Amino acid sequence: MPVINSIEDLRALARRRVPRALFDYVDRGAYDEQTLRRNRQDLDALQFRQRIMVDLSTLSLESTLLGAQVAMPLAIAPIGLGGFVHGDGEIHGARAAAAFGVPFCLSTLSVCSIEDVHAAVPQPFWFQVYLMRDRGFNQELISRARAAQCSVLVLTVDLPIQGLRRRDAKNGLTVPPRLTARNALEIALRPGWALGVLLGKRRTFGNLASRLGDTGGLSTLAQWIGTQFDRSVNWKEIDWIRQQWPGRLVVKGILDAEDALAACAAGVDGIIVSNHGGRQLDGAPSSIAVLPEVAAAVAGRCEVLFDGGIRSGQDILKALALGARGCLIGKAYMYALGAQGERGVTRALSILRDELMVSLALTGRTHVAAVDHSILRAPQSSANAASCMNPPSAAR
Ligand SMILES: Cc1cc2nc3c(=O)[nH]c(=O)nc-3n(C[C@H](O)[C@H](O)[C@H](O)COP(=O)(O)O)c2cc1C
Repeated sequence: MPVINSIEDLRALARRRVPRALFDYVDRGAYDEQTLRRNRQDLDALQFRQRIMVDLSTLSLESTLLGAQVAMPLAIAPIGLGGFVHGDGEIHGARAAAAFGVPFCLSTLSVCSIEDVHAAVPQPFWFQVYLMRDRGFNQELISRARAAQCSVLVLTVDLPIQGLRRRDAKNGLTVPPRLTARNALEIALRPGWALGVLLGKRRTFGNLASRLGDTGGLSTLAQWIGTQFDRSVNWKEIDWIRQQWPGRLVVKGILDAEDALAACAAGVDGIIVSNHGGRQLDGAPSSIAVLPEVAAAVAGRCEVLFDGGIRSGQDILKALALGARGCLIGKAYMYALGAQGERGVTRALSILRDELMVSLALTGRTHVAAVDHSILRAPQSSANAASCMNPPSAAR
């Protein structure tokens, strides 16, 4: 077994263990993948100021996210079909997160259902919803999330219509995954994956099992989403959600300061600055490029969380410096799950924690709460980096 000490190592391992079509589903982005690339490039372009001779005898990553104590300011992002990269994947992810002391967010489009995860993991988790045409079904999902004592409801709003991931269409990704002549060799070469997923009992959208019986033969995710997602969704719906959900509410998919202001006006508890991991509007800016202006607009009225391109503790630190209270990981979590299941997710969280701790210390800070834009060097030449360094905000 090679030494695994980076998210990239877990990615390489996942690539070998997970069938190609699924790996691509996780790894790729929409259309020409410009936004997917920008998420990484713009994080890479930021540089730290190294500071020395600071007393670092006590270092702490502890924080709070949406009212709960966390071991570090990180959460696991909602991932549709996460349970396909590893059998019972969401249970593995939720267990690893709970043991580590960070929040786990379950997607509506997960393979394991809300009840599956609740039965397997005693700690509360977050639940993510999309608004669907069938509001009765949303009502049902939200009451199931309440019954499972979910602590935060995340409303994802950047998918009223689905961006095309060209690779998925070419790979013919189906739900549930099927053994076809085309993918037989791929699957035969990955017996560990096949045992867990193809022969496991959870092989479709767990939360939607009751409705999917009536899809009339629709097989692909894209087809299903096309029939169910409500393009008319607008800010007025927040009131309707509030009637169903009295707890903490977060809107995910904010990429513009004006939308952040609208979210504050709607009274949400938090927003997630996100471009859906480069999977929706290609040509949109990276999440890190807009984070400072969004955080400045919010000015502390709600919590600002961030995702898009996080692959290291250094990336987390950069997002904290630019105004995020915490970050979420999507692909990094999927690589870890595909590589080694629960053990892999624990490993990924440990890698990120250690990198964050060391980087925090080397910028001369002892506590994540003390991080602000001054740990970053002013931009030298890159236009992208410049756009990331707009007026910083004290708001988290
Ligand atoms: C395979 C995959 C499936 C996803 N499914 C969902 C989903 O069901 N709901 C959602 O709100 N976001 C979903 N996302 C977006 C993530 O929650 C998150 O915003 C994104 O992955 C962050 O970027 P990163 O992958 O670079 O960390 C998905 C992302 C990936 C990679």
